[in-house]
Amino acid sequence: MMLSPSISLAFAEPIEWLKKAHALFLNRISEIQNAASTQKVDDKESKKFEDNGINPWGTSTMDSLLKKIYPLIMKFDGYRSSTKPYTGKVALSTLKNSSRNKVIEIGGKKYHIKGCAGQGGFAQVYKANVDSDPDNVVALKIQKPAFPWEFYIYRQLDKRILDRERSSYGFAHRIHIYSDCSILICDYLANGTLQDVINSYVVLGKSMEEVLCIYYTIEMLHMVETLHGFGLIHGDFKPDNLLIRYARGDLTEDGFFSRIGPWCDQGLCLVDWGRGIDLHLFPDHILFKGDCRTSGFRCIEMLEDKPWKFQVDAYGLCAIVHMMLHSSYMEVVKKEQSDGSYMYLPKLPFKRYWNIELWKTFFTKMLNQYPHDDDRSLLQDLKKSFQDYMSSNPQLIKKLKELLSKQRASLCSA
Ligand SMILES: Nc1ncnc2c1ncn2[C@@H]1O[C@H](COP(=O)(O)OP(=O)(O)OP(=O)(O)O)[C@@H](O)[C@H]1O
Ligand SMILES: [Mg+2]
Repeated sequence: MMLSPSISLAFAEPIEWLKKAHALFLNRISEIQNAASTQKVDDKESKKFEDNGINPWGTSTMDSLLKKIYPLIMKFDGYRSSTKPYTGKVALSTLKNSSRNKVIEIGGKKYHIKGCAGQGGFAQVYKANVDSDPDNVVALKIQKPAFPWEFYIYRQLDKRILDRERSSYGFAHRIHIYSDCSILICDYLANGTLQDVINSYVVLGKSMEEVLCIYYTIEMLHMVETLHGFGLIHGDFKPDNLLIRYARGDLTEDGFFSRIGPWCDQGLCLVDWGRGIDLHLFPDHILFKGDCRTSGFRCIEMLEDKPWKFQVDAYGLCAIVHMMLHSSYMEVVKKEQSDGSYMYLPKLPFKRYWNIELWKTFFTKMLNQYPHDDDRSLLQDLKKSFQDYMSSNPQLIKKLKELLSKQRASLCSA
């Protein structure tokens, strides 16, 4: 790999750079924690987190992880770093008000901004053409202060996920780190998010058809199983972080179960890896304590101040399934069973005409005694139960194909 001028600059002043990046990183993490907080966490409670387990997003954990990954990250393909602030002709702050048709220069390339794809508390995501090439479309994620962590996780995905599965997890081309911000350059997907699909039903006062819910549930179970199997946790599994993918050609009746042919390009793509956890950086059998503080997506263990690991994604998956089925956020309650025991289950009852046993098994297994360590066989068994149902009647795949092309026609933005 050729060293770019900006990388050699980072080599020249590693300690200064590290100190600066470190300070910015700590700032960013504590800002996230403060801003996202839905309830005040008092000193006693945060002390308890430190005493009883590791908070993967906590300041001290992030501090030592950053130190650990710094020598690796600066050698990654696509990593560009400068100790100076961003000084393009167009100030990045002006993009917030109006971005369309502005041209910004980053690392010798011109990015023609086509519009805003999303705005979070700390990041703005823009759609842009590279060097006026209409076929070269990227997503620019601008974050203040600089945030190299997400790029690190993207490179771990490149290393660990097999080629045929890779398109389910988003791809980062480059990151440009400045002293005041970072710009992450990713593949752009034009079909909106799973949240958009859910909303398209909500505005009509409806919910997604069951067969479509089953399809996306199979997809998500498969993605989480793959991810966890490679020692990665997403940590922010919610429908606006799942982009929609469609097949290049028409969907066929076969290929669905083996995920081949047009079904290979069809599905979801998980982005927003800012809360990603790399288990390879922690001891085996590590358990976490810490709260994602994303309202509606805090797993039961977080709510009860118990240790967790894969549960954070499992709960996110359940919450998404609930949103697809009911068009509302999931509320979990303890329900009494016929044998007198209690089970965590969604408060809302299943609809009479759904496959109640299928959904009941899904929520029961995902929300109760989820394994701390290897969760793959649980996810595989659940995926199989939904796949078996899909293979029980050829009409179901036919219906799914129709629903997906209807969805594509009504929501695709090009
Ligand atoms: N590669 C992409 N292609 C198309 N749209 C994207 C892409 N990445 C992000 N988006 C859109 O931008 C939104 C915000 O992006 P992202 O989730 O990465 O940022 P964020 O600020 O961390 O989000 P939040 O904090 O709100 O979860 C996404 O919900 C999605 O709608
Ligand atoms: Mg997001």
